[in-house]
Amino acid sequence: MKQEMYAKREGFSSSIGVIAAVLGSAVGLGNIWKFPYVTGANGGAAFILVYLLCVALVGLPVMLSELLIGRHTKANAVGAFKALQPRRPWFLVGGAGVLSAFLIMAFYTTVAGWVYAYIFKAAGGMLVSTKPEDTSLAFKTLISGVAEPLFWQMFVLIVIGAIIMAGVTKGIERVTKLLMPLLFLLLLIIDIRSLTLPGAGVGLSFLFKPDFSKITVSVILAALGLAFFKLSVGMGAMITYGSYVDKNENLPKMAIKVALADTLVSLMAGIAIFPAVFAFGFKPDAGPKLLFIIIPTVFNSMPLGRLFMVLFFLLTAIAATGAMLSLLEVPIAYLTEQYQWTRRKATLLTILGIGLLGSTATLSNSLFAKVTVFGKTFFDFFDFATSNVLLPLGGIFIALFVGWQWNHTKVKLEMSNGGQLTNERLADAFIFLVKFIVPVAIALVLLAGLNIIHF
Ligand code: TRP
Repeated sequence: MKQEMYAKREGFSSSIGVIAAVLGSAVGLGNIWKFPYVTGANGGAAFILVYLLCVALVGLPVMLSELLIGRHTKANAVGAFKALQPRRPWFLVGGAGVLSAFLIMAFYTTVAGWVYAYIFKAAGGMLVSTKPEDTSLAFKTLISGVAEPLFWQMFVLIVIGAIIMAGVTKGIERVTKLLMPLLFLLLLIIDIRSLTLPGAGVGLSFLFKPDFSKITVSVILAALGLAFFKLSVGMGAMITYGSYVDKNENLPKMAIKVALADTLVSLMAGIAIFPAVFAFGFKPDAGPKLLFIIIPTVFNSMPLGRLFMVLFFLLTAIAATGAMLSLLEVPIAYLTEQYQWTRRKATLLTILGIGLLGSTATLSNSLFAKVTVFGKTFFDFFDFATSNVLLPLGGIFIALFVGWQWNHTKVKLEMSNGGQLTNERLADAFIFLVKFIVPVAIALVLLAGLNIIHF
């Protein structure tokens, strides 16, 4: 019965399709919105170095762990752990992942809504100033409204709901395959403009000249959390996507390619933003609004700026949409496989749940501005609780599972596609990392970053 169900699963249709989908999950608001603002808030270059270390030594191994688990079991985040370890509560790791997907989507759809709104504002000529006061005011007016940002959030949810109901291959592949090269090209154009602004040098040294005195435990936790968020790992999204991947795919190679490409996009977004931050007299630690107040100034100081600005927000919206599809796929695969819900029912109810939860994030700048959870607004709480707590926690358990619970011979067989690839050495290094380094490193950073232990 189970076997039959899994046999019927739709998969990604080609190797390019898989990379596009996994990259489509990784690249999103994380690169274009979050990476710059978190880098700005944590002091720049030194933070970026720590971030790169987190990606290579922690994020990448967890990503590979998830892909291996997913492809091996051909199941959703919960079902995968149940299949591999039926008698122990490891499936709770998948359960926490489903919860994380809701929490991330709650604030992700808020920001995606702002991006969708900016497409129209840019097109309508409402963002034509290069003055910090003007671009800040335009953004503040949008987010402190009630009906307008809620409308855009619901709009986003309807768009992704429609795409999801069209199915795995058709929906996800088509959207993501087309867009990556275009987004890349546009970022390149903005980078050139930003780098040639008078005073751009200050922004460049902010990005690339590290000041190590800026590194504190909370900075390290922010870098680690961002690495998880960026690579879409720690909550079973890559287990779910891995379950659609063909058995001949070279998973380690794919994970490395995705992490490299993703990091490149983040750095390019940084180069687009920081020279302009300093050239136009903004502050780098402006927080979540950074992208929205800086980007208009860059475009407004270049020829055809308005056209390019519309294109930029459009491509960012599409990238965000690809990322959201992977987030949604976690609860949807769970509900359809574990409870035999139809895809339609699972999609509709998931989206409804996210809409309800997410509206509290959207209203964090207006009606609920004074309502706090652990001293944070709903928006900040969802963001912090997922990136800086739940994803790293998920990462610890996913690594521990592969390092200590899963038979190493089986791990190596899965990693080498049943012995077809020769990557024994790499596999040994990987197992060593997930067995010792990854869980210990995350645990220390998490405990210290949350002030539970002190060095
Ligand atoms: N990586 C995406 C981004 O940077 C966000 C994302 C998509 C995500 N799927 C995820 C984050 C799963 C954590 C887990 O925008």
